[in-house]
Amino acid sequence: MALKQVVGTYGVALFHVDVPDVLLGARRGSPLILGVGKGQNFIVSDVSAIVAHTRDVVYLDDYDVVSIERDQFDIVSLAGADASFQVSKVEFSSEDVDLGTFPHFMLKEIFEQPNAIRDAMRGRLSIEECTAKLGGLNMSSRELRDVDRIVLTACGTALHACRVGECLIESLAHIPTEVEFASEFRYRNMPMNKDTLVFAISQSGETIDTLAALRESKRKGHRTLGICNSVGSTIARESDGGVYMHAGPEIGVAATKSFTSQVIVLTLLALLLGRIRNLSSVQGIEVISALESLPDLARQILDQSAQIEKLTEKYVDAAGFLFFGRQYNYPIALEGALKLKEITYKFAEGHPSAELKHGVIALIGPEVPSIMIAPDDAVYEKNLNSIEQIKARKGPVIAIATEGRKQIAALADDVICIPKCPDFISPILTAIPLQLFSYHLAVKLGRDVDKPRNLAKSVTVE
Ligand code: BG6
Repeated sequence: MALKQVVGTYGVALFHVDVPDVLLGARRGSPLILGVGKGQNFIVSDVSAIVAHTRDVVYLDDYDVVSIERDQFDIVSLAGADASFQVSKVEFSSEDVDLGTFPHFMLKEIFEQPNAIRDAMRGRLSIEECTAKLGGLNMSSRELRDVDRIVLTACGTALHACRVGECLIESLAHIPTEVEFASEFRYRNMPMNKDTLVFAISQSGETIDTLAALRESKRKGHRTLGICNSVGSTIARESDGGVYMHAGPEIGVAATKSFTSQVIVLTLLALLLGRIRNLSSVQGIEVISALESLPDLARQILDQSAQIEKLTEKYVDAAGFLFFGRQYNYPIALEGALKLKEITYKFAEGHPSAELKHGVIALIGPEVPSIMIAPDDAVYEKNLNSIEQIKARKGPVIAIATEGRKQIAALADDVICIPKCPDFISPILTAIPLQLFSYHLAVKLGRDVDKPRNLAKSVTVE
């Protein structure tokens, strides 16, 4: 009766002192899950909280009301009718949510990226057809061929993955692609024609703005797909199909492996759409072999963790940081700045390198280091120019560069090297050193890197 009068989103659990053996739970908008155990049952917001006790769960729907006792449970809808439900098996185990020998979940998850990259690709690359297979899209090649515009919408780090996706889909599949902040998209009246395909991207699958953007897109009759990590999450269940990232549980509030996993899935999508259009089988194989080389290349960067930690000693007192990149690496400048802000609480901004001259250069000085993401690609020389402009104003420069490049090493104050790779996979390799830089700097500053202030792993209320 009371919930029928409630306005807004909620995930609640309730018990009454006079009925101590019964717990009730209800949800609308916010996630709530029933854990089915032996001689015990649970009500939780996220399966990682109970995976050590049971892996049998029921993902509750909006307006479900659940009552649990030790050895039984019952689910009805707010309207009072029995609710249909399905007991699912959680795909990861308690070890996956255990710190192991790592000091923090964030560092553990940074080091899990070679596996997360491999797991995102597992069973999805077809050498025979020189393309990617994404069965969960529930779309035929004919339907994918008819798509003439793509909208990617998300929040936070997932939005930066979308920006890399935009570059990938436009250059590999030549489809006009737009990236929209979910919190803006849900209230904007964006004109979209019938052949526009919308993707809602979210690690948790529960972020309220991304969920609302998905519902708004579906309300307007658009096919709306999801790219999520959490199996059984609301976005995954409400989308018309999609792709699971299989990155495993991500506990650290600052997203790391979920970012690289999202970029891998978007690369697979771009390859699939490209092979249906303009990409030859030879080009398809080039993309596949580049993807398959990634786990080892990523491991080479993780081997530099100690050097990167040493480097942060030099910059621990910096007032703030500027991040610069171009093309595929402009989103990495944004993501690098976000990571640093999230866990060190220092000011940081990401910009396209050439925007330097249009204002940002006013911030350059000895107290504000710049991180220039400048791997070997078509705009490498341009990024060198930007470094010279920053150095001319006495700004310290840390360059993320391709190993063996002497010129940039001579120009920059410090260089973190990445292995040589094609430009379309460089964002994965340039993101990892920035994650490590922010992590080690935050540890030096004594921050709570796994639970930084004012942040939540998933924002489920508007
Ligand atoms: C924030 C997290 O709450 O939500 C970020 O702190 C994350 O790390 C953002 O990128 C979006 O989350 P999700 O689950 O929708 O990808």
